[in-house]
Order: sequence, then C-alpha cells, then structure tokens
Amino acid sequence: MTQSHSRRDFLRYAGGAAALAALGGPLLSACRSTTAAPAGSTAVPAITAAGATPTLQPSLTGSVTGGSALKEFDLTTAVTPIDLGTGEFQAWTYNGLPVGPEIRVTEGDRVRITLTNNLPDPTTVHWHGIPVPNAMDGVPKMTQPAVQPGESFVYEFNAFPAGSYWYHPHVAHQLDRGLIGAFIIEPKSNPGDYDREYTLVLEDWATVDGGGPAAVNRMVNRDMAGMMGGMGGMMGGMMGGGAANDPNAPLVEPVYDAYTINGQVAEIAAPLTAKQGDKLKLRFINGSSGTIYDVRLAGHTLTITHTDGRPVEPFTVDVLRIAMGERYDVEVTADNPGRWRLYALADSADDYVNLGLLQYDDALASRDSGDSVPQNIRWNDLTQMTGAPEERYPASNSTDDRVVFDQTLSGGHGSPLWSINGQIWPDTDAIVVAQDQPVQFNYRNQSMMPHPMHLHGHFFEVGQNGVRKDTVIVPSHGLVSVRFVANNPGGWMHHCHNIYHAEAGMMNVVQVG
Ligand code: C2O
Ligand code: CU
Repeated sequence: MTQSHSRRDFLRYAGGAAALAALGGPLLSACRSTTAAPAGSTAVPAITAAGATPTLQPSLTGSVTGGSALKEFDLTTAVTPIDLGTGEFQAWTYNGLPVGPEIRVTEGDRVRITLTNNLPDPTTVHWHGIPVPNAMDGVPKMTQPAVQPGESFVYEFNAFPAGSYWYHPHVAHQLDRGLIGAFIIEPKSNPGDYDREYTLVLEDWATVDGGGPAAVNRMVNRDMAGMMGGMGGMMGGMMGGGAANDPNAPLVEPVYDAYTINGQVAEIAAPLTAKQGDKLKLRFINGSSGTIYDVRLAGHTLTITHTDGRPVEPFTVDVLRIAMGERYDVEVTADNPGRWRLYALADSADDYVNLGLLQYDDALASRDSGDSVPQNIRWNDLTQMTGAPEERYPASNSTDDRVVFDQTLSGGHGSPLWSINGQIWPDTDAIVVAQDQPVQFNYRNQSMMPHPMHLHGHFFEVGQNGVRKDTVIVPSHGLVSVRFVANNPGGWMHHCHNIYHAEAGMMNVVQVG
C-alpha cells in the first residue's frame, strides 16, 4: 500500500469519525460507500482445519456441600514463543496458548482455579464481569497479594450469573502481552436454540520488540496523532517521541501490527462454518488492550441477545461496535450462502482489518462473496436498546436516595497521563458508598479519545431501559450515565479498559460498605 493511499484512508476515516462522533454513529459510517471487499484485502490462503481456542477440561469434577458441582481447573502462566505470522516473539501466555483456554462451566457450579505463575513478574487473575466475592477479584494489594514467580494461588467462587465473561491479570500491562481468555457460564436452563456456537476473542498485538508494553521504540501517542489530522502512525510516533524517550513517563499505546480472533490472524484462522438455515450464536469478547472495533460480518446482520452477559431484547445491527472489556452475544441466521468476510474498522489501525471468514458448508470456497454495506447503518446504540424483562428491575427503589458522582475523564492533548476527576491513580480518593446504596455515575469525557469504563463486582444499568453491562464506552466529549446498587461489599476497581490509560492514571476505587 502506498503512503498516499494509506494517508487518504486515514483522513477519510479520521474525518468521518470526528463528524459522526456528534451523532453517535459508528466509525464504519465513514465508509458506507464501501461495497466491495475491504481495502487491503488479498486472496485468503489455504484454510486450515485448526480449531478454536481449546476448552479447558476440568482436572477434577466433584460435588460440594449444597449439591452444586465442583469444577477444578489449572492455569499456568509462562513466557512462550509465539508466531502469529509476523515472526516469532515472546508472548506471555496461559497454558502456553496465544489466547488462554476457554473456561466453560454451568451456572451454579462451584469453580476452583489454581493459578501457577511461571512468569518473571508477579501476577493475578481478574474474572472480568463475574461478581465474585471481593477476595477473589484478583487485584494485587487490594484483594490479595500478587502471586510471585514460582508460586500458586487458588481462586474459588460460584459461577453466577450465566453469561460471557473473560479473565486477565490485573498487574501493569500484562494483558497486552497475551494473557487473556474466555470464561463462559452456561445457563442452567434455556441455553437457547442454536445449531452452532462460537466464542470469538478479539486481540490486538504489538509483536515487534517483544510485545505490547515492551515495544518502547514503537510507542505512539494516538491522541496527538489524531490532532495532527492523520499523519498516521509513523508521524504520530515521532510526535509522541517526547513521552517515549522519558524512561519515567507512563507507556502510551504501542502500534499494533496483528489482530487475531482466538489467537489466529485471519489468514490462517479456521473459518466459522454454517449450513443454510442454521442459527449461530457468536460470543464476541474484546480482550484487546487498545482497540475498539466496528465489526461487520459481510452479507449478514447480527442480532444482539446479550450485553456483557446480560440479556436484552433482540436488537439487530449491521455493525457491532465493541470496546476493550466488552462482550456481545449475537445471533446470526445463516440465510445467505457463500464465503463471507468477518472484518472490522479498528481504531488502532489506519484501515480495515480482516478477522476471519464465515463459510457455508455447501458453498464454493474459491472466493469471497462481496459485501454491500447498507446506506443507513444500524449499530449497537445502547440508548435504542432495552433489557430483557428480567433485567428491568429498578436500579434503585427510590430515586431520592440515589447518590450521584460525576466521573470526569481527561487526558491526552499531548500528556501521557489520564485522570478521573483530575486525580491520577494511585493518588485518588475512594468513592465510599454504603452497602446496598443506589449509585449513579455521570461520565463526562473531556478528552479526544473514547474510554471504555469498567466497574468490578457489579453490573450497572446504562440509561434507564434495563440494558445492563459492566463496561461502557464513553465517547469522546460524550456524557453517559450509569446506575447500580452497591450490593457487593469490598473495594472495587473502576477504570478505563484501555490498559495504557488505566496504568497512566485513569483508575479509582469504589469502596462498598
Ligand atoms: Cu477487565 Cu479491572 O478489568
Ligand atoms: Cu481510556
């Protein structure tokens, strides 16, 4: 791709995104005239039969008092050479895999997971989204001492409620080195009527210089690059060089050079498969550290059934925007035979990225079917969505006793630090609330980047229609309100899930009870 081509695409994208931010539209709207396969696409080489990320088999299944099943798992962290197709580098892995094994249990199970740490650094595991007891939440110094190299720690909690979750360390930038995995809690009853189900873990990789946080020579302040009006990564890197050259400055996002689903780049990934008439369930989990995706399955719509594990009234979209930490379960009706590209506009890349393929069993596999993106793109605007009936319980019994906190998000503009209410973690005041206190957060984003804000230990309601989540995108210069009942005692982290923002200060604590 020529420099001018790349620059033009970036300008189109950046300009479109800025214009559409006010309307709240997806980034892909900027490219709605795209009718062919995405730019930069090439013929897809041989499709391998390689499978998805393996499901971790319990090492022991028994029962505990109370009659629930006990399922024990072992997770081992290590430094592992990985080649995604861009050359070998040292990833940090769970059980040696580029994406950790999927842990799949049934609602009500008792889960016991032994973490053994073979990394050179201390680590922990955080079970993102699962409202575990505080001592099991995996936050070093707050809920447990970090697990030292060579040592182990046993996590144990009840698998509840059913939904799509994921796990990752809560130490520095470790998750950007590859330490992520899916955690699925299947419902006890009504699993849904699907012919095939896929878990799709999205991840961004900086494979140069030894992985994300080690890629110090490739650091780029994208906020500044954005201000420069599309100079692209190279220029942005030069502009961000001041921060990059100061050894004490916080890390800013690296340049990502590979995007994977379940640890496989599109060129080698096994396709999703379907027969005509199948109903597919796809669980999208964004385990990336610095990438928001606008995901498109060519030739198909996606019907959202769950947001961060919580059921919603079915809501059909053409493009799914998913930020770091978020999960969306979607249903796809296989009613359009062919070989279809799964692709995304990724905000950490200057162009579309190919993520994989949906291949019908009976379709001729020689070439991709061309996409036609509709004029008026439907996307997952949470304000248009409604929670499932069982989620529409009031966030508080009385709106009068709700306590309201502003959470003003700032940073960027050339500064390597990110803050909430002007405070930079760990120099932050705890948000102290009584147990069972109804709480409202008003997120005001004063920066040029969107921030996916995540609260541990709780689900919050976004807006007032029963849409429940644990991670919500606060758009650039946007205002988003969430409400929750502080019903899980303990100190809970609350932070941006861009791991570079969190580690550069955009983090505080909600102290319940
Ligand atoms: Cu995905 Cu603090 O967590
Ligand atoms: Cu952020």
